[in-house]
Amino acid sequence: MRRILVAGNWKLNGSLQSVRQLVADIKAGLGDLKADVAVCPPYVYIPEVAQLLKGSSLGYGAQDVSDQTAGAFTGEVSAPMLNDFGCKYAIVGHSERRSLYGEGDDFTARKFAATRKAGLIPILCVGELLEEREQGITEQVVSRQLDAVIQLEGVAALADAVIAYEPVWAIGTGKTASPQQAQDVHAFIRGKIAALDAAVAEKVQILYGGSVKGSNAAELFAMADIDGGLIGGASLAAEEFLTICRAG
Ligand code: PGA
Repeated sequence: MRRILVAGNWKLNGSLQSVRQLVADIKAGLGDLKADVAVCPPYVYIPEVAQLLKGSSLGYGAQDVSDQTAGAFTGEVSAPMLNDFGCKYAIVGHSERRSLYGEGDDFTARKFAATRKAGLIPILCVGELLEEREQGITEQVVSRQLDAVIQLEGVAALADAVIAYEPVWAIGTGKTASPQQAQDVHAFIRGKIAALDAAVAEKVQILYGGSVKGSNAAELFAMADIDGGLIGGASLAAEEFLTICRAG
């Protein structure tokens, strides 16, 4: 049985004060959850979050990571640095990185590799644009995004990774994919991996992301191939986030 993972992606939000409050509120409400829970703050707040979460079951990670380990790469943060601060996860290839910062499949695959090399778990985001869905090429797009990683790292690398299927048209729009729409793509992803290695396909956690809320999380997480969620907006309000965590 795969575990449910709920990961909060705080994006470019918060202040030192609001981060402290949010972590305290989430910690206070965690209780006895079945799901694994993690938060991904902006880089600069990671040391603070690490401190606040000492001894807690709540994991944390980064929203991005460099494809490089060290050297003259101004502005970058490497996976070993994230490891120094106890990060468990790094999100790679989020659609905002792809569309706003021009990060492509191969670059994302190198970030995925760098993350694993440092012993962190990559959360690899894949997903189609609205026009791609309308053209009926969702599976081709997701396939291409996955293939870049499989070609560089091999399918076995996915066994200890997390995939997040995030249809771009559902991110931050309030428009969630229906549980069946999401399940169809999740099943496609798992099937594609199973064709290469059935054991890896059985193990890999595939999260859904895109306007997940307290009110729709349970029906999404109940689908056979949906193993939790990557949560943006709703992860910034402790009660809403906890409701999603409890749905797992
Ligand atoms: P959203 O974002 O929950 O605000 O739609 C999800 C994400 O971008 O990971």
